[in-house]
Amino acid sequence: MNCCFPLLRGRHAGEGDDGVHRVKVFSCNELRKATQNFSEANKIGEGGFGSVYRGMLKDGTFVAAKVLSATSRQGIGEFLTELTAISDIKHENLVTLIGCCAEGNHRILVYNYLENNSLQQTLLGSRYSSIQFNWEARVKIAIGVARGLAFLHEEIRPHIIHRDIKASNILLDKDLTPKISDFGLARLLPPNATHVSTRVAGTLGYLAPEYAIRGQVTKKSDIYGYGVLLLEIVCGRCNTNTRLPREDQFLLEKTWALYEEGHLEEVIDADIDDDLDVEEACKFLKIGLLCTQDAMARRPHMSTVFRMLTGHKNVSMEKITKPAMITDFADLKISSKPPGPNETTRSSTSRSFTTTTEMTEPFSSSDTPTQSSM
Ligand SMILES: Nc1ncnc2c1ncn2[C@@H]1O[C@H](COP(=O)(O)OP(=O)(O)OP(=O)(O)O)[C@@H](O)[C@H]1O
Ligand SMILES: [Mg+2]
Repeated sequence: MNCCFPLLRGRHAGEGDDGVHRVKVFSCNELRKATQNFSEANKIGEGGFGSVYRGMLKDGTFVAAKVLSATSRQGIGEFLTELTAISDIKHENLVTLIGCCAEGNHRILVYNYLENNSLQQTLLGSRYSSIQFNWEARVKIAIGVARGLAFLHEEIRPHIIHRDIKASNILLDKDLTPKISDFGLARLLPPNATHVSTRVAGTLGYLAPEYAIRGQVTKKSDIYGYGVLLLEIVCGRCNTNTRLPREDQFLLEKTWALYEEGHLEEVIDADIDDDLDVEEACKFLKIGLLCTQDAMARRPHMSTVFRMLTGHKNVSMEKITKPAMITDFADLKISSKPPGPNETTRSSTSRSFTTTTEMTEPFSSSDTPTQSSM
């Protein structure tokens, strides 16, 4: 049985006439039926928040049910308040939250099911994917993600910093329209938990150095993640692949080296069909390099990135500086323990990072960190 939880909203535009917003609440039973008792066969993924199951509701709608593993300390009222705020946020390039379940210790988020899975599994995955990512599709994905992120950063109030921009959080619908997932979830976690998982080395490849080392969470750390993602979209490979020869392992490092040599086109995915526009692809790579500069202040805002991608603003490389990146994150550990005497502490959350990471460039950022708004 469904019920609705009416709440006064105060977060962003799109309010109903009565000023009251409702988040649809499913019973656990209903979701059990929809997912065939959360069967292994219906499990479509697992991330830092918990497991995700495909399900079909009674009315035939397909959903993705994300069973949260670390939220039980949050009361039901508080949980529903946070979710009402998130479910209010609607945009073509954001995944829609359609409801939730909060019974006892169970906390489940129910999203629209996206047919074509994530960019991680389709464009970058090692498993066979039948999707052909021609140049037109890649342009649409790159621009769509930039639009969605610009919306979160600059249009809604309060702004939202995503904190975990990466290929597995970019889902694709049947027309390959990209949808950013997992925005606004930081407040659902207990204060000492982290959803930035170290299980997948690739996750760290998206983390801006100031975020990975000092824990500074700003819009500019999202922009760094977007820059890495943009390079991946153009090059059709993961940011890090330790099976490749040393000089090819880190996509950002390789792209920068080719940029300096004046041979940027060499890094473009060779699998792109005849519709490849080399000039536009090189422009996108340059935008990716602008987004991943060491100094946070030099990275462009998302709305500027969007205008550069769509040709409404020139891409100026005059003052570009070398990207800073982590070249050895084997020993980078995210933990909730207090740091030891030689360890670096996060400044904006309770997480701490210990590291023996080598940097290609010393950190020299002038941006002041801000709190994530969610
Ligand atoms: N709405 C959805 N529709 C279709 N598949 C989804 C949906 N949401 C998640 N998935 C699938 O489930 C996988 C796991 O998602 P989840 O967000 O839990 O983990 P993640 O994105 O890999 O890591 P993180 O927890 O850091 O976000 C995704 O990679 C995607 O393949
Ligand atoms: Mg995710």
